[in-house]
Amino acid sequence: MAVETQNNFDNVVWESDRRHFFHPWTHFDSFKDEGSLILTRAEGVYTYDASGKRYLDGVGGLWCMNVGYGRDEIVDAIAEQARELAYANPFVDVGNAPAALLSAKLAELSPGDLNRVMLTCGGSTANDSMVRLAHYYWGCKNQKSRKKIITRRGSYHGSTYLTQSMTGKPADRMPEFHYDTDLIVYVSEPNSYRPPEGVSEADFEQWLIDEFAETIEREGPENIAAHFAEPILGAGGVVVPPRRYITETHELCRQHGILYVADEVVTGFGRVGAWFASLDVFGIQPDAIVTAKGITSGYQPLGAVLVSDAIYEVVAEAGYDRLFTNGYTYSGHPVACAAALKNIEIMERENLPGRVRDDIGPYFMEQVGTLKDMPTVGDIRGMHLMACVVNVADKETREELPAEVNIGKRISNAAEELGLLVRPVGNLNVLSPPLTITRTEVDELVSMLRQSMDRVCGDLRQEGFDL
Ligand SMILES: Cc1ncc(COP(=O)(O)O)c(C=O)c1O
Repeated sequence: MAVETQNNFDNVVWESDRRHFFHPWTHFDSFKDEGSLILTRAEGVYTYDASGKRYLDGVGGLWCMNVGYGRDEIVDAIAEQARELAYANPFVDVGNAPAALLSAKLAELSPGDLNRVMLTCGGSTANDSMVRLAHYYWGCKNQKSRKKIITRRGSYHGSTYLTQSMTGKPADRMPEFHYDTDLIVYVSEPNSYRPPEGVSEADFEQWLIDEFAETIEREGPENIAAHFAEPILGAGGVVVPPRRYITETHELCRQHGILYVADEVVTGFGRVGAWFASLDVFGIQPDAIVTAKGITSGYQPLGAVLVSDAIYEVVAEAGYDRLFTNGYTYSGHPVACAAALKNIEIMERENLPGRVRDDIGPYFMEQVGTLKDMPTVGDIRGMHLMACVVNVADKETREELPAEVNIGKRISNAAEELGLLVRPVGNLNVLSPPLTITRTEVDELVSMLRQSMDRVCGDLRQEGFDL
């Protein structure tokens, strides 16, 4: 395309986006003024905008780009499948090869007896389906009062009507929405950096366990269907819960017959050095795992719920002529499943979970950890290729900067100028690069992040902040 025609096209795209694409999580004011950064192509860990400017994708798309951009093998698998059979109705008793083979592969990779797989359109629909299955399951067991779902404050479980209520992140709560308070019960965010008033960091883990036990007692176990928990809270700011808290809350669920559902939408598929974090990283066997994102490395939209044989047997054998009336037009979509199969094949061949666990994950955390000397960095937390920089006004007191400073966004804006994408979450900056990132690229990422923070700290000093 001639340069002028290309520029015209780019402007049409930018303007069409600004006028017509109603983005998720639109921040109306800044969008009105600034529009979007339109990305046009990508390769490896780098994305490019229309002007050809290169950005190191420190966010891995949105925690989903695991095997890196530009994998011809996945592109070919998608094209071949679309040519062969672009769609197949998944309802009742019609199947297709990619969905069947992917389900078998997921049963093989997942821990224990999670051998039955519901395929969905993404993580939210997977969580939603799992709530419905939990209710159905308890109904089949003649324990119909078991309806409540325990989730954590600070968690993120999606953006359907139900999963917005399961989500406990305060920043996502808008007064205009209606949240379900009958069904969803919250426990505290397991964030040791900010224990509640009057609770010391040393006592916090036991405090959390006690709170969980008291919540079960208060609500009555006979009313609780399931506990949904991210092994590591992702969108809530990469909060790694204390380990005994995870094992003991799992044990409390087991004792009271409450289903333990691990939301591994982010932690699945290698990001923390294992196919799934529940058993291999945290030592617990959940009753179900919900996953998405890295399952296709974002090449196609797909979610999955991996369910235990024990749950499946109860619902499948509860009586004659029964239906589990849940699912979507695109459940088990052959093209998405073909992408997932090829993505998993690449991850196995290149041993990406092992590479993250033994090499690049520890290196990444160590290098990001060097930013701790920056004046606004109160904490750096995470595990392997999930990391979070916690920005504060005062390292000692952990006091936060005023919300209007919008430090996370200012750092991400400065990073974007330098050619690095990082995600702002309030006062935090979150990182989750592709699993294929090299040591040199990690160094480049950390160096650009340092420069961005330096720039923002300089501006803040000029604005009168004592850093
Ligand atoms: C832990 C977790 N669960 C569920 C979801 C929702 O997934 P999706 O956006 O694919 O619906 C997300 C998305 O970020 C997530 O991080």
